[in-house]
Amino acid sequence: MSLPSSQTRRAFVGTTVAAGAAVALVACGDGSSAAPNNEPSAPPEPVGEGTVVTTLAELAVGTRLAVTAPRTNADGKTKDAGFLLFRPNEKTVLAYTNICTHQGCAVTTKAPQGDDFYCACHGSYFQPADGKAVAGPARGALERIAAAIKGQDVLLYV
Ligand code: FES
Repeated sequence: MSLPSSQTRRAFVGTTVAAGAAVALVACGDGSSAAPNNEPSAPPEPVGEGTVVTTLAELAVGTRLAVTAPRTNADGKTKDAGFLLFRPNEKTVLAYTNICTHQGCAVTTKAPQGDDFYCACHGSYFQPADGKAVAGPARGALERIAAAIKGQDVLLYV
């Protein structure tokens, strides 16, 4: 077996590096051609009975909390899903899905800096007050979920 000439080997390495860069660019894209919506929407109105996900004692004013609740998808199947809660004042709880609008990783309440929601996959930050993407590669706001306070319980409507 003969080794390729240095010129051929250089061309091969150059082609390989270029192909690798193209794959990396595709992997970092959001995978969609539509522009994501980063305009905060109004919280949806609660419909149905709702699911108790926590209590006011566990969600003090000004704090954030990650919870799970069963959610029925478009295909009719129900499974546990992750949600993020924020309580801006005594009478309000805001809720969002924890699905990052960049590439779908789980967004958490634990940011390395500040009090925003955070996706560790590629470092996106989302405002708890409206779900808007404010830093990192995500360009779309988190999906809002209907939430309500009943007595001492916090309910989600999913
Ligand atoms: S999936 Fe990339 S920042 Fe969340």
